[in-house]
Amino acid sequence: MTTPFKAIEITDDIYWVGAIDWNLRRFHGYDINRGTTYNAFLIKDKKNVLIDMVRAPFKDELFSRIRSVIEPEKIDLIVSNHAEMDHSGALPDTIDLIQPEKVLASAKGVEALKAHYNIDQPLEAVKDGSEIDIGRSKLKFIETKMLHWPDSMVTFVPDKGVLFSQDAFGLHLATSERFDDELPESILEYEAAHYYANILLPYSKLIPKLAEKLSELDIKIFATDHGPVWRSRLEWIVDLYKKWAAQKPTMKAVIVYDTMWESTALMSRALADGLREGSASVKLMSLAAHTRSDIATELLDAGAILIGSPTINGEMYPTLGEILTYMKGLKFQHLIGDAFGSYGWVPNKTVREIRDKLSEMKIELVSENGVSCHYVPTDDILMHCRELGIATAKMLKEKSK
Ligand code: FEO
Repeated sequence: MTTPFKAIEITDDIYWVGAIDWNLRRFHGYDINRGTTYNAFLIKDKKNVLIDMVRAPFKDELFSRIRSVIEPEKIDLIVSNHAEMDHSGALPDTIDLIQPEKVLASAKGVEALKAHYNIDQPLEAVKDGSEIDIGRSKLKFIETKMLHWPDSMVTFVPDKGVLFSQDAFGLHLATSERFDDELPESILEYEAAHYYANILLPYSKLIPKLAEKLSELDIKIFATDHGPVWRSRLEWIVDLYKKWAAQKPTMKAVIVYDTMWESTALMSRALADGLREGSASVKLMSLAAHTRSDIATELLDAGAILIGSPTINGEMYPTLGEILTYMKGLKFQHLIGDAFGSYGWVPNKTVREIRDKLSEMKIELVSENGVSCHYVPTDDILMHCRELGIATAKMLKEKSK
């Protein structure tokens, strides 16, 4: 049928019918750089199945792409792998249009969909490991609890080797290309790291188990809910996930700071010089120039975090409070760190409080006290910063052996 939006066949009888959100930059408190896609998939079989949906404002795009293959009313089943609204927002309208026999989700998924949309019928819970027959193919449901919500599950089509992996292996990347092998590896790696650091990192301990579960399946395609469909670099992306989950210490340090009258900025540069002298690689990130999501991404393969703040009204700069709160939730492992900063008339409080926050996150401190500076750094203070950089690099060398 001629429709304004077309489906794209990803393998025999399986179609991408999602939507592209080209200019989205703020996504549930997470800053993204290149927009995103909401991937939904249609399986044509004796029973036609819709796997996941799109955000509510994109429902007409979804319906149009489905209509380019079959009339939406011919869909028999909907599978909701994940109840978050970027994949289920269109559910109430989709149920109204399609009148499916069932909407299948995990038990927690059914609970979440009920809570979001106040619907009951035709929701039905599927068990972990259960299978259903849809004609020529079967669908197998595998729970992936807390990756990254309690309801999360994936759906596997064994005869086609397609795994509908919901958020797992997703990228926030809006492009006209639909497959991983149509895109540069460097962009895929950066955006996959960005996604992992900001969404999956707190659940890293569950990744090896996921990788083990997936290794038991003969998977040819990861049909993820965001970004390109993976058909060529499956092993590559699974290996990256294993590496990021392990968070092994490296010789990379990230310095994050804000500055009022350039004192903390100058201190951060002396610190960076000391780190370089100790052979560490350094990323110097001002909070005026970088989002918390970009900082989390740089920290994903780092071994150290150094945080610098001026003092305002007796407290650390609010921007530093934000990054510390964000870091705490992401539960970074194996980092070392320290703090530095300036004050006018409340000596050392800011640096002490940042160090306390780092300790709460189980980040091992490099020095006894960090470096505090009264108003403007003297050469002596800058030398202390340089020495803190050298000491950090030395500790990193020990940790990354
Ligand atoms: Fe893409 Fe957790 O939603």
